[in-house]
Amino acid sequence: MTVRAGTLPQRASIPALVLDSMEVGILVLDPRGRIGYLNRKAEEILEVASAEFIGRDVDEAFVSNDDRWHSSDPIDTLGARATQREASLKIGGREVTIEATAAALRGGEEELLGTLVTFTDYSEGEADEEFQRNVQRLASLGELSAVVAHEIRNPLTGIRTTVQYVGSKLAEGDPKKEDLQDVIKEIDRIEQIITELLLFARPQAAKTELVNINEVVEKSLDNLELQFEELKIAVKRDLAEGPPLIAVDPDQMLQVFLNLLINSVDAMPEGGSLRAATSTRRYRSGRRVVEVAFSDTGVGIPQDNLDKIFDPFFTTRPSGTGLGLTISLQIVREHGGRITVRNRSQGGATFRITLPVPEPEGGD
Ligand SMILES: Nc1ncnc2c1ncn2[C@@H]1O[C@H](COP(=O)(O)OP(=O)(O)OP(=O)(O)O)[C@@H](O)[C@H]1O
Ligand SMILES: [Mg+2]
Repeated sequence: MTVRAGTLPQRASIPALVLDSMEVGILVLDPRGRIGYLNRKAEEILEVASAEFIGRDVDEAFVSNDDRWHSSDPIDTLGARATQREASLKIGGREVTIEATAAALRGGEEELLGTLVTFTDYSEGEADEEFQRNVQRLASLGELSAVVAHEIRNPLTGIRTTVQYVGSKLAEGDPKKEDLQDVIKEIDRIEQIITELLLFARPQAAKTELVNINEVVEKSLDNLELQFEELKIAVKRDLAEGPPLIAVDPDQMLQVFLNLLINSVDAMPEGGSLRAATSTRRYRSGRRVVEVAFSDTGVGIPQDNLDKIFDPFFTTRPSGTGLGLTISLQIVREHGGRITVRNRSQGGATFRITLPVPEPEGGD
């Protein structure tokens, strides 16, 4: 396509032109929350035609898990920076995730005309960048870990055998025998860490089959039912109806979901709620994915740690190994998927996994 130079329109039409050329979605609401305007990018991100939406109530048109995405903080009006909120919007059966910033639209000092919401599509670009950063760090760490783990394992087996032998020579009731038992227990813990490490460094080949992801999610939740009950964690299942089948190893996916769920449980020692959701989305590139999201109301992840939680051995728990997320990232990557994390505006964390839906044979 060749692009030819045109003429800039009259000054009065320039604002509309600018709004429609912007790379962020713009949504304007009146003070009662009715939609007054959507720019072209907004239509593109939400996949809607604005003519059908003008005048409608925003909460009814775009159903969200967190309505605050379009309400501006009173603080904004004092000139402070508006906070960005991530929200999932349900629009006629589809789910679109956006990052939105709302600001008051003011006529004068004391006149509120409505709200201006600017938003971007959270789905592809940004999540991808974040994921790639984590993957790159992993690749180099993985090779080194494999070598180290392997080298430690052999002498460790020797040590264990020797300790056991020495123990067997001691008389029954000798207090040293107990000490040696403790040594063996610690050796077994090292052995366990190494096994997990090797699993991450040299993952097992996935045995893929066509799977309804809801079944795997259900199974992971059922597995932890007792813990949920004991810790007073309310579970909400929000599963898509009849999601497209995807090619995954159900056992490996179960492992990933359990890792994430156990992390959520650990983050909610005083109880809380956990939402497991599945949905389907189509990116503008035409690629389709199934998304699994786990949201908790736990302690959340401090900003400084967000970049590190997928690293091997990064843990903030006294008895954690710090391999749960590393292994999960590895498995998801082997499946051609993505895993990302966000703190929720209302506290807690959301982990999202997207997995590709196989293209139908011979196109549509
Ligand atoms: N849902 C969550 N809420 C808050 N923090 C989390 C959550 N999930 C993970 N984290 C943080 O990420 C860290 C790393 O998690 P990861 O699962 O890799 O290791 P771990 O849970 O500490 O140990 P393990 O190897 O037993 O899984 C955790 O220690 C915790 O600080
Ligand atoms: Mg964990």
